Amino acid sequence: MIKLESASQIPSEVQAIGFGVFSQGSTLEAGDKIDVSILKQVGFEAKLGQTYLMSPGQGSPVSIAIGLGDKSKFDLDALRKSGAAFIRASKNYTTVAIEIDLVEDDFGPQGFYQALGEGVLLGSYSFDTYRSNSQDNKVEKVFIKKAPQQALQKAELIAEAVYLARDLVNEPAGKLSPSHFAEIAQGLANEVLEVQVWDEQTIKDEKLGGVLAVSRGSFEPPRLIKMEYKPPTDIASVPSVVLVGKGITFDSGGLSLKSAEGMMTMKTDMSGGAAVVGAMSALAKLSLPVHVIAIVPVTENMPGGRATKPGDVFRARNGKTIEVLNTDAEGRLILADGLSLASEINPDAIIDLATLTGACVVALGREIAGVMGNNQSLVDQILKAAHSTGEACWQLPLPSQYRKHIESEIADMKNIGASGGQAGTLSAALLLEEFVGEQPWAHLDIAGPARSDNNEGYWTKGGSGFGVRLLIDLFESFTVPVKD
Ligand code: BES
Ligand code: MG
Ligand code: ZN
Repeated sequence: MIKLESASQIPSEVQAIGFGVFSQGSTLEAGDKIDVSILKQVGFEAKLGQTYLMSPGQGSPVSIAIGLGDKSKFDLDALRKSGAAFIRASKNYTTVAIEIDLVEDDFGPQGFYQALGEGVLLGSYSFDTYRSNSQDNKVEKVFIKKAPQQALQKAELIAEAVYLARDLVNEPAGKLSPSHFAEIAQGLANEVLEVQVWDEQTIKDEKLGGVLAVSRGSFEPPRLIKMEYKPPTDIASVPSVVLVGKGITFDSGGLSLKSAEGMMTMKTDMSGGAAVVGAMSALAKLSLPVHVIAIVPVTENMPGGRATKPGDVFRARNGKTIEVLNTDAEGRLILADGLSLASEINPDAIIDLATLTGACVVALGREIAGVMGNNQSLVDQILKAAHSTGEACWQLPLPSQYRKHIESEIADMKNIGASGGQAGTLSAALLLEEFVGEQPWAHLDIAGPARSDNNEGYWTKGGSGFGVRLLIDLFESFTVPVKD
Protein backbone atom coordinates (compact mmCIF):
# COMPACT_ATOMS: atom_id res chain seq x y z
CA MET A 1 0.00 0.00 0.00
CA ILE A 2 1.15 3.50 -0.84
CA LYS A 3 2.42 5.51 2.12
CA LEU A 4 0.59 8.77 2.91
CA GLU A 5 2.49 11.55 4.61
CA SER A 6 1.47 14.94 5.85
CA ALA A 7 3.58 17.91 4.72
CA SER A 8 3.48 21.59 5.56
CA GLN A 9 5.74 22.31 2.56
CA ILE A 10 6.09 20.13 -0.53
CA PRO A 11 9.52 18.40 -0.31
CA SER A 12 11.94 18.86 -3.20
CA GLU A 13 12.11 15.13 -4.08
CA VAL A 14 8.51 15.24 -5.31
CA GLN A 15 8.16 14.45 -9.04
CA ALA A 16 4.52 15.45 -9.54
CA ILE A 17 2.09 17.67 -7.68
CA GLY A 18 -1.68 17.53 -8.01
CA PHE A 19 -3.77 20.69 -7.72
CA GLY A 20 -7.55 20.77 -7.49
CA VAL A 21 -9.56 22.67 -10.11
CA PHE A 22 -13.29 23.37 -9.86
CA SER A 23 -15.63 24.08 -12.71
CA GLN A 24 -18.22 26.78 -12.23
CA GLY A 25 -20.26 27.02 -15.36
CA SER A 26 -17.70 27.70 -18.08
CA THR A 27 -15.09 29.16 -15.74
CA LEU A 28 -12.40 27.23 -13.94
CA GLU A 29 -11.37 27.92 -10.39
CA ALA A 30 -7.89 26.92 -9.30
CA GLY A 31 -5.38 28.10 -6.74
CA ASP A 32 -2.57 30.47 -7.72
CA LYS A 33 -0.20 27.55 -8.50
CA ILE A 34 -1.88 26.64 -11.72
CA ASP A 35 -2.36 28.61 -14.94
CA VAL A 36 -6.03 28.28 -15.84
CA SER A 37 -5.55 29.72 -19.35
CA ILE A 38 -3.36 26.74 -20.33
CA LEU A 39 -6.03 24.36 -19.07
CA LYS A 40 -8.67 26.16 -21.10
CA GLN A 41 -6.52 25.98 -24.22
CA VAL A 42 -6.22 22.20 -23.97
CA GLY A 43 -9.93 21.75 -23.35
CA PHE A 44 -9.67 20.76 -19.70
CA GLU A 45 -13.12 21.24 -18.18
CA ALA A 46 -12.37 20.18 -14.58
CA LYS A 47 -14.98 17.41 -14.75
CA LEU A 48 -14.90 15.19 -11.70
CA GLY A 49 -12.17 12.60 -12.23
CA GLN A 50 -10.58 14.41 -15.20
CA THR A 51 -6.83 15.01 -14.94
CA TYR A 52 -4.25 16.84 -17.04
CA LEU A 53 -0.47 16.63 -16.80
CA MET A 54 1.22 19.98 -17.47
CA SER A 55 4.76 19.93 -18.79
CA PRO A 56 7.15 21.15 -16.14
CA GLY A 57 9.67 23.93 -16.34
CA GLN A 58 13.35 23.01 -15.97
CA GLY A 59 13.94 20.95 -12.86
CA SER A 60 10.47 21.46 -11.44
CA PRO A 61 7.90 18.75 -10.83
CA VAL A 62 5.03 18.00 -13.19
CA SER A 63 1.79 19.74 -12.24
CA ILE A 64 -1.31 17.60 -12.47
CA ALA A 65 -4.62 19.39 -12.68
CA ILE A 66 -7.30 17.37 -10.89
CA GLY A 67 -10.88 18.05 -11.92
CA LEU A 68 -13.05 18.40 -8.83
CA GLY A 69 -16.24 18.87 -10.83
CA ASP A 70 -18.94 21.40 -10.19
CA LYS A 71 -18.26 23.31 -6.98
CA SER A 72 -21.91 23.32 -5.92
CA LYS A 73 -22.05 19.51 -6.15
CA PHE A 74 -18.77 18.85 -4.37
CA ASP A 75 -18.83 16.50 -1.39
CA LEU A 76 -16.50 14.06 0.34
CA ASP A 77 -17.29 11.29 -2.12
CA ALA A 78 -16.31 13.59 -4.99
CA LEU A 79 -13.07 14.19 -3.11
CA ARG A 80 -12.44 10.43 -2.81
CA LYS A 81 -12.95 10.12 -6.58
CA SER A 82 -10.56 13.02 -7.16
CA GLY A 83 -7.90 11.36 -4.99
CA ALA A 84 -8.29 8.16 -7.01
CA ALA A 85 -8.10 10.03 -10.33
CA PHE A 86 -4.92 11.78 -9.21
CA ILE A 87 -3.15 8.60 -8.17
CA ARG A 88 -4.00 6.95 -11.50
CA ALA A 89 -2.70 9.98 -13.39
CA SER A 90 0.58 9.93 -11.45
CA LYS A 91 1.20 6.19 -11.72
CA ASN A 92 4.57 6.57 -13.45
CA TYR A 93 6.16 8.59 -10.62
CA THR A 94 7.34 7.28 -7.28
CA THR A 95 7.03 10.32 -5.03
CA VAL A 96 4.13 12.69 -5.53
CA ALA A 97 2.17 15.32 -3.63
CA ILE A 98 -1.33 16.77 -3.50
CA GLU A 99 -2.33 20.27 -2.67
CA ILE A 100 -6.10 20.76 -2.54
CA ASP A 101 -7.06 23.44 -0.10
CA LEU A 102 -9.85 25.21 -1.92
CA VAL A 103 -12.74 23.92 0.18
CA GLU A 104 -11.39 22.13 3.21
CA ASP A 105 -13.10 24.60 5.56
CA ASP A 106 -16.55 23.34 4.59
CA PHE A 107 -15.81 19.83 5.79
CA GLY A 108 -13.31 20.08 8.62
CA PRO A 109 -9.73 18.87 8.11
CA GLN A 110 -10.22 15.42 9.67
CA GLY A 111 -13.05 14.30 7.37
CA PHE A 112 -11.65 16.13 4.36
CA TYR A 113 -8.15 14.63 4.41
CA GLN A 114 -9.40 11.21 5.46
CA ALA A 115 -11.62 11.11 2.36
CA LEU A 116 -8.77 12.31 0.15
CA GLY A 117 -6.44 9.67 1.59
CA GLU A 118 -9.07 6.95 1.14
CA GLY A 119 -9.53 7.89 -2.51
CA VAL A 120 -5.77 7.71 -3.16
CA LEU A 121 -5.40 4.33 -1.48
CA LEU A 122 -8.55 2.68 -2.80
CA GLY A 123 -7.87 3.88 -6.36
CA SER A 124 -4.35 2.43 -6.37
CA TYR A 125 -5.30 -1.09 -5.28
CA SER A 126 -4.41 -3.96 -7.57
CA PHE A 127 -4.38 -7.72 -7.14
CA ASP A 128 -1.09 -8.93 -8.57
CA THR A 129 -0.59 -12.29 -6.88
CA TYR A 130 -0.74 -14.20 -10.16
CA ARG A 131 0.89 -11.74 -12.55
CA SER A 132 4.46 -12.24 -13.72
CA ASN A 133 4.80 -8.52 -14.29
CA SER A 134 3.07 -6.47 -11.66
CA GLN A 135 0.83 -3.79 -13.12
CA ASP A 136 1.31 -1.85 -9.96
CA ASN A 137 1.03 1.84 -9.72
CA LYS A 138 4.67 2.94 -9.22
CA VAL A 139 3.83 5.53 -6.58
CA GLU A 140 5.42 4.76 -3.24
CA LYS A 141 4.72 7.89 -1.29
CA VAL A 142 2.16 10.70 -1.43
CA PHE A 143 2.69 13.92 0.49
CA ILE A 144 -0.58 15.63 1.27
CA LYS A 145 -0.25 19.27 2.10
CA LYS A 146 -1.71 20.43 5.40
CA ALA A 147 -3.29 17.05 6.20
CA PRO A 148 -3.56 16.14 9.88
CA GLN A 149 -1.46 12.99 10.43
CA GLN A 150 -4.41 11.41 12.25
CA ALA A 151 -6.69 11.76 9.22
CA LEU A 152 -4.15 9.99 7.03
CA GLN A 153 -3.61 7.23 9.57
CA LYS A 154 -7.32 6.61 9.65
CA ALA A 155 -7.50 6.51 5.85
CA GLU A 156 -4.70 3.92 5.87
CA LEU A 157 -6.39 1.81 8.47
CA ILE A 158 -9.70 1.82 6.60
CA ALA A 159 -8.01 1.13 3.27
CA GLU A 160 -6.19 -1.84 4.83
CA ALA A 161 -9.55 -3.32 5.79
CA VAL A 162 -10.93 -2.75 2.27
CA TYR A 163 -7.75 -4.24 0.74
CA LEU A 164 -8.22 -7.33 2.92
CA ALA A 165 -11.80 -7.74 1.72
CA ARG A 166 -10.82 -7.16 -1.95
CA ASP A 167 -7.95 -9.66 -1.65
CA LEU A 168 -10.29 -12.29 -0.21
CA VAL A 169 -12.83 -11.72 -2.99
CA ASN A 170 -10.23 -11.72 -5.76
CA GLU A 171 -8.49 -14.89 -4.59
CA PRO A 172 -9.57 -17.76 -6.86
CA ALA A 173 -11.91 -20.30 -5.29
CA GLY A 174 -9.39 -23.07 -5.98
CA LYS A 175 -7.15 -21.43 -3.40
CA LEU A 176 -9.70 -19.80 -1.10
CA SER A 177 -11.47 -22.93 0.13
CA PRO A 178 -13.73 -22.62 3.18
CA SER A 179 -10.94 -23.88 5.43
CA HIS A 180 -8.42 -21.45 3.94
CA PHE A 181 -10.83 -18.52 4.39
CA ALA A 182 -11.28 -19.58 8.02
CA GLU A 183 -7.50 -19.77 8.54
CA ILE A 184 -7.09 -16.21 7.26
CA ALA A 185 -9.79 -15.01 9.66
CA GLN A 186 -8.11 -16.90 12.48
CA GLY A 187 -4.88 -15.07 11.69
CA LEU A 188 -6.54 -11.72 12.49
CA ALA A 189 -7.09 -12.59 16.15
CA ASN A 190 -5.59 -10.26 18.77
CA GLU A 191 -6.26 -9.02 22.32
CA VAL A 192 -9.50 -7.31 21.40
CA LEU A 193 -10.55 -9.58 18.52
CA GLU A 194 -11.42 -13.16 19.38
CA VAL A 195 -11.74 -15.63 16.50
CA GLN A 196 -13.29 -19.07 16.68
CA VAL A 197 -13.72 -21.52 13.81
CA TRP A 198 -16.24 -24.36 13.77
CA ASP A 199 -15.27 -27.40 11.71
CA GLU A 200 -17.68 -29.76 9.95
CA GLN A 201 -18.23 -31.94 13.02
CA THR A 202 -19.10 -28.91 15.18
CA ILE A 203 -21.39 -27.62 12.42
CA LYS A 204 -23.19 -31.03 12.56
CA ASP A 205 -23.30 -31.02 16.37
CA GLU A 206 -24.71 -27.49 16.34
CA LYS A 207 -27.43 -28.56 13.85
CA LEU A 208 -26.60 -26.04 11.14
CA GLY A 209 -28.82 -27.85 8.64
CA GLY A 210 -28.63 -25.07 6.03
CA VAL A 211 -24.85 -25.03 5.88
CA LEU A 212 -24.81 -28.83 5.63
CA ALA A 213 -27.47 -28.90 2.91
CA VAL A 214 -25.31 -26.61 0.78
CA SER A 215 -21.93 -28.19 1.53
CA ARG A 216 -23.06 -31.78 0.84
CA GLY A 217 -22.25 -31.57 -2.86
CA SER A 218 -18.70 -30.36 -2.28
CA PHE A 219 -15.45 -32.17 -1.59
CA GLU A 220 -14.36 -29.24 0.63
CA PRO A 221 -15.71 -29.31 4.21
CA PRO A 222 -17.61 -26.23 5.44
CA ARG A 223 -16.56 -23.87 8.21
CA LEU A 224 -18.23 -21.29 10.39
CA ILE A 225 -16.17 -18.26 11.37
CA LYS A 226 -17.10 -16.46 14.56
CA MET A 227 -15.32 -13.25 15.53
CA GLU A 228 -15.92 -11.05 18.54
CA TYR A 229 -14.70 -7.51 19.07
CA LYS A 230 -14.98 -6.33 22.66
CA PRO A 231 -14.35 -2.60 23.05
CA PRO A 232 -11.94 -1.48 25.76
CA THR A 233 -14.83 0.29 27.52
CA ASP A 234 -17.43 -1.37 29.74
CA ILE A 235 -19.06 -3.88 27.43
CA ALA A 236 -22.48 -3.74 29.10
CA SER A 237 -22.85 -0.02 28.45
CA VAL A 238 -22.31 -0.08 24.67
CA PRO A 239 -24.67 -1.26 21.89
CA SER A 240 -24.23 -4.83 20.67
CA VAL A 241 -24.50 -5.87 17.03
CA VAL A 242 -24.18 -9.22 15.29
CA LEU A 243 -22.99 -9.16 11.68
CA VAL A 244 -23.69 -12.12 9.40
CA GLY A 245 -21.91 -12.51 6.06
CA LYS A 246 -22.58 -14.91 3.18
CA GLY A 247 -19.45 -16.98 2.67
CA ILE A 248 -19.99 -19.08 -0.47
CA THR A 249 -16.42 -19.47 -1.73
CA PHE A 250 -17.76 -20.76 -5.04
CA ASP A 251 -21.33 -20.89 -6.31
CA SER A 252 -21.70 -23.34 -9.18
CA GLY A 253 -25.44 -23.39 -8.53
CA GLY A 254 -25.26 -27.00 -7.28
CA LEU A 255 -27.44 -29.45 -9.22
CA SER A 256 -29.47 -26.45 -10.44
CA LEU A 257 -26.24 -25.67 -12.27
CA LYS A 258 -25.48 -22.16 -13.45
CA SER A 259 -24.49 -21.43 -17.04
CA ALA A 260 -20.80 -21.11 -17.94
CA GLU A 261 -21.31 -17.37 -18.19
CA GLY A 262 -23.20 -17.16 -14.88
CA MET A 263 -20.45 -19.05 -13.05
CA MET A 264 -17.52 -16.97 -14.24
CA THR A 265 -17.56 -14.51 -11.35
CA MET A 266 -18.89 -16.82 -8.67
CA LYS A 267 -15.66 -16.88 -6.65
CA THR A 268 -16.99 -13.53 -5.45
CA ASP A 269 -19.98 -15.11 -3.72
CA MET A 270 -18.27 -14.74 -0.34
CA SER A 271 -18.14 -10.93 -0.64
CA GLY A 272 -20.57 -10.42 2.25
CA GLY A 273 -18.35 -12.57 4.47
CA ALA A 274 -15.25 -10.73 3.25
CA ALA A 275 -16.83 -7.34 4.05
CA VAL A 276 -17.71 -8.51 7.54
CA VAL A 277 -14.22 -9.90 8.20
CA GLY A 278 -12.63 -6.75 6.75
CA ALA A 279 -14.75 -4.48 8.93
CA MET A 280 -13.94 -6.55 12.04
CA SER A 281 -10.23 -6.18 11.39
CA ALA A 282 -10.60 -2.39 11.43
CA LEU A 283 -12.96 -2.14 14.41
CA ALA A 284 -10.34 -3.62 16.63
CA LYS A 285 -7.82 -0.96 15.58
CA LEU A 286 -10.25 1.94 15.92
CA SER A 287 -11.37 1.01 19.47
CA LEU A 288 -14.96 1.91 18.56
CA PRO A 289 -17.53 1.81 21.39
CA VAL A 290 -19.67 -1.08 20.08
CA HIS A 291 -19.65 -4.76 20.93
CA VAL A 292 -19.64 -6.59 17.61
CA ILE A 293 -19.89 -10.28 16.89
CA ALA A 294 -19.45 -11.61 13.35
CA ILE A 295 -20.80 -14.90 12.05
CA VAL A 296 -19.71 -16.11 8.62
CA PRO A 297 -20.90 -19.52 7.42
CA VAL A 298 -18.46 -20.64 4.73
CA THR A 299 -18.96 -23.36 2.14
CA GLU A 300 -18.83 -24.11 -1.56
CA ASN A 301 -22.03 -24.82 -3.51
CA MET A 302 -21.17 -27.78 -5.78
CA PRO A 303 -23.08 -30.51 -7.65
CA GLY A 304 -21.20 -33.55 -6.28
CA GLY A 305 -22.72 -37.03 -5.97
CA ARG A 306 -24.07 -36.39 -2.47
CA ALA A 307 -25.43 -32.95 -3.35
CA THR A 308 -28.83 -31.75 -2.15
CA LYS A 309 -31.44 -32.52 -4.84
CA PRO A 310 -34.26 -30.21 -5.83
CA GLY A 311 -37.20 -31.32 -3.68
CA ASP A 312 -35.09 -32.22 -0.65
CA VAL A 313 -36.06 -30.84 2.74
CA PHE A 314 -33.75 -29.95 5.63
CA ARG A 315 -34.17 -28.48 9.09
CA ALA A 316 -32.30 -25.28 9.90
CA ARG A 317 -30.72 -24.33 13.22
CA ASN A 318 -33.91 -22.74 14.60
CA GLY A 319 -35.98 -25.86 13.89
CA LYS A 320 -37.79 -24.60 10.80
CA THR A 321 -37.81 -26.75 7.65
CA ILE A 322 -36.99 -25.60 4.12
CA GLU A 323 -37.78 -27.36 0.87
CA VAL A 324 -34.94 -26.78 -1.60
CA LEU A 325 -36.50 -26.41 -5.03
CA ASN A 326 -33.50 -24.67 -6.59
CA THR A 327 -30.05 -25.46 -5.24
CA ASP A 328 -28.77 -22.19 -6.68
CA ALA A 329 -30.76 -20.28 -4.06
CA GLU A 330 -28.14 -21.41 -1.51
CA GLY A 331 -27.16 -18.13 0.16
CA ARG A 332 -30.42 -17.90 2.07
CA LEU A 333 -29.91 -21.46 3.34
CA ILE A 334 -26.59 -20.77 5.04
CA LEU A 335 -27.82 -17.36 6.22
CA ALA A 336 -30.83 -19.09 7.80
CA ASP A 337 -28.40 -20.78 10.20
CA GLY A 338 -26.23 -17.69 10.58
CA LEU A 339 -29.22 -15.51 11.46
CA SER A 340 -30.59 -18.15 13.86
CA LEU A 341 -27.28 -18.11 15.72
CA ALA A 342 -27.29 -14.29 15.68
CA SER A 343 -30.78 -14.17 17.19
CA GLU A 344 -29.79 -16.57 19.96
CA ILE A 345 -27.16 -14.03 21.04
CA ASN A 346 -29.99 -11.46 21.35
CA PRO A 347 -28.02 -8.33 20.38
CA ASP A 348 -29.40 -4.81 19.93
CA ALA A 349 -29.25 -5.27 16.15
CA ILE A 350 -28.46 -7.85 13.48
CA ILE A 351 -27.11 -6.91 10.04
CA ASP A 352 -26.39 -9.34 7.24
CA LEU A 353 -24.51 -8.76 3.99
CA ALA A 354 -24.87 -11.12 1.06
CA THR A 355 -24.47 -11.40 -2.70
CA LEU A 356 -27.91 -12.92 -2.54
CA THR A 357 -29.92 -12.37 -5.72
CA GLY A 358 -29.41 -11.64 -9.39
CA ALA A 359 -32.80 -9.94 -9.14
CA CYS A 360 -31.23 -7.19 -7.03
CA VAL A 361 -28.75 -6.51 -9.84
CA VAL A 362 -31.69 -6.23 -12.24
CA ALA A 363 -33.51 -3.85 -9.88
CA LEU A 364 -30.66 -1.59 -8.75
CA GLY A 365 -27.77 -2.26 -11.09
CA ARG A 366 -24.09 -2.71 -10.31
CA GLU A 367 -23.48 0.29 -8.09
CA ILE A 368 -26.31 0.20 -5.58
CA ALA A 369 -27.08 -2.37 -2.89
CA GLY A 370 -30.59 -3.20 -1.72
CA VAL A 371 -31.37 -2.79 1.96
CA MET A 372 -34.37 -4.36 3.66
CA GLY A 373 -35.23 -4.72 7.31
CA ASN A 374 -37.77 -5.01 10.09
CA ASN A 375 -36.77 -1.78 11.84
CA GLN A 376 -36.71 1.66 10.20
CA SER A 377 -34.39 3.21 12.74
CA LEU A 378 -31.72 0.62 11.91
CA VAL A 379 -32.28 0.93 8.15
CA ASP A 380 -32.03 4.72 8.45
CA GLN A 381 -28.65 4.45 10.20
CA ILE A 382 -27.45 2.20 7.37
CA LEU A 383 -28.72 4.61 4.70
CA LYS A 384 -26.90 7.46 6.44
CA ALA A 385 -23.63 5.49 6.53
CA ALA A 386 -24.18 4.55 2.88
CA HIS A 387 -24.51 8.20 1.99
CA SER A 388 -21.44 9.38 3.85
CA THR A 389 -19.19 6.58 2.54
CA GLY A 390 -20.44 6.58 -1.06
CA GLU A 391 -21.37 2.89 -0.72
CA ALA A 392 -24.81 3.47 -2.17
CA CYS A 393 -27.85 1.63 -0.79
CA TRP A 394 -31.53 1.90 -1.65
CA GLN A 395 -34.27 0.62 0.61
CA LEU A 396 -36.60 -2.05 -0.72
CA PRO A 397 -39.72 -3.26 1.11
CA LEU A 398 -40.19 -6.42 3.13
CA PRO A 399 -43.84 -6.97 2.19
CA SER A 400 -45.71 -9.48 4.35
CA GLN A 401 -48.27 -10.01 1.57
CA TYR A 402 -45.52 -11.77 -0.40
CA ARG A 403 -44.86 -14.30 2.36
CA LYS A 404 -47.18 -16.56 0.33
CA HIS A 405 -44.53 -16.66 -2.41
CA ILE A 406 -42.33 -18.90 -0.26
CA GLU A 407 -45.06 -21.27 0.96
CA SER A 408 -44.09 -24.91 0.40
CA GLU A 409 -46.30 -27.91 -0.37
CA ILE A 410 -44.60 -30.02 2.25
CA ALA A 411 -42.32 -27.90 4.48
CA ASP A 412 -42.42 -24.65 6.48
CA MET A 413 -41.18 -22.76 3.42
CA LYS A 414 -39.47 -23.25 0.06
CA ASN A 415 -36.24 -21.59 -1.00
CA ILE A 416 -37.56 -19.88 -4.13
CA GLY A 417 -40.29 -17.30 -4.62
CA ALA A 418 -43.05 -16.82 -7.17
CA SER A 419 -42.72 -18.05 -10.76
CA GLY A 420 -40.78 -15.95 -13.21
CA GLY A 421 -38.62 -14.58 -10.44
CA GLN A 422 -41.14 -11.88 -9.45
CA ALA A 423 -39.68 -9.76 -6.65
CA GLY A 424 -36.88 -12.29 -6.22
CA THR A 425 -34.90 -10.03 -3.91
CA LEU A 426 -37.88 -9.63 -1.62
CA SER A 427 -38.77 -13.32 -1.40
CA ALA A 428 -35.15 -14.05 -0.44
CA ALA A 429 -35.32 -11.40 2.30
CA LEU A 430 -38.69 -12.72 3.49
CA LEU A 431 -37.12 -16.14 3.92
CA LEU A 432 -34.28 -14.64 5.94
CA GLU A 433 -36.80 -12.88 8.18
CA GLU A 434 -38.07 -16.31 9.29
CA PHE A 435 -34.77 -16.85 11.08
CA VAL A 436 -34.58 -13.57 12.94
CA GLY A 437 -36.30 -13.17 16.29
CA GLU A 438 -37.65 -9.92 17.70
CA GLN A 439 -34.39 -8.04 17.22
CA PRO A 440 -33.97 -5.12 14.83
CA TRP A 441 -32.50 -6.63 11.66
CA ALA A 442 -31.34 -5.29 8.32
CA HIS A 443 -30.29 -7.20 5.21
CA LEU A 444 -27.98 -5.81 2.55
CA ASP A 445 -28.18 -7.51 -0.84
CA ILE A 446 -24.80 -6.60 -2.35
CA ALA A 447 -24.99 -8.84 -5.46
CA GLY A 448 -24.49 -5.77 -7.69
CA PRO A 449 -21.73 -3.68 -6.09
CA ALA A 450 -19.63 -6.52 -4.60
CA ARG A 451 -17.67 -6.51 -7.85
CA SER A 452 -16.68 -3.80 -10.23
CA ASP A 453 -16.07 -4.36 -13.94
CA ASN A 454 -14.13 -1.13 -14.38
CA ASN A 455 -11.40 0.94 -12.82
CA GLU A 456 -13.72 3.81 -12.14
CA GLY A 457 -13.50 6.36 -9.34
CA TYR A 458 -12.00 4.56 -6.36
CA TRP A 459 -13.41 1.20 -7.52
CA THR A 460 -10.96 -1.17 -9.11
CA LYS A 461 -11.75 -4.10 -11.39
CA GLY A 462 -12.75 -7.18 -9.37
CA GLY A 463 -13.78 -7.38 -5.73
CA SER A 464 -14.82 -3.96 -4.42
CA GLY A 465 -14.82 -4.55 -0.68
CA PHE A 466 -18.28 -2.96 -0.66
CA GLY A 467 -19.68 -2.77 2.85
CA VAL A 468 -16.41 -2.47 4.76
CA ARG A 469 -16.43 1.34 4.89
CA LEU A 470 -20.18 1.46 5.39
CA LEU A 471 -19.96 -0.79 8.46
CA ILE A 472 -17.05 1.13 9.96
CA ASP A 473 -18.88 4.42 9.47
CA LEU A 474 -22.05 2.93 10.96
CA PHE A 475 -20.23 1.83 14.10
CA GLU A 476 -18.61 5.21 14.60
CA SER A 477 -21.96 6.66 15.63
CA PHE A 478 -24.17 3.63 16.18
CA THR A 479 -27.15 3.95 18.51
CA VAL A 480 -29.49 1.22 19.70
CA PRO A 481 -32.35 1.20 17.15
CA VAL A 482 -35.68 2.53 18.37
CA LYS A 483 -38.31 -0.20 18.12
CA ASP A 484 -40.86 0.48 15.32
N1 BES B 1 -24.88 -15.87 -5.77
C1 BES B 1 -26.11 -15.81 -6.48
C2 BES B 1 -26.61 -14.39 -6.70
C3 BES B 1 -25.77 -13.52 -7.59
C4 BES B 1 -26.06 -13.45 -8.94
C5 BES B 1 -24.76 -12.74 -7.09
C6 BES B 1 -25.30 -12.64 -9.76
C7 BES B 1 -24.01 -11.92 -7.92
C8 BES B 1 -24.29 -11.86 -9.25
C9 BES B 1 -27.18 -16.58 -5.72
O1 BES B 1 -26.73 -17.66 -4.99
C10 BES B 1 -28.14 -17.12 -6.73
O2 BES B 1 -27.71 -17.91 -7.51
N2 BES B 1 -29.38 -16.69 -6.69
C11 BES B 1 -30.37 -17.12 -7.64
C12 BES B 1 -31.66 -17.34 -6.88
C13 BES B 1 -32.74 -17.98 -7.70
C14 BES B 1 -32.36 -19.39 -8.08
C15 BES B 1 -34.03 -17.98 -6.90
C16 BES B 1 -30.53 -16.02 -8.68
O3 BES B 1 -30.46 -14.84 -8.33
O4 BES B 1 -30.66 -16.36 -9.84
MG1 MG C 1 -26.65 -19.44 -6.10
ZN1 ZN D 1 -24.82 -17.55 -4.31
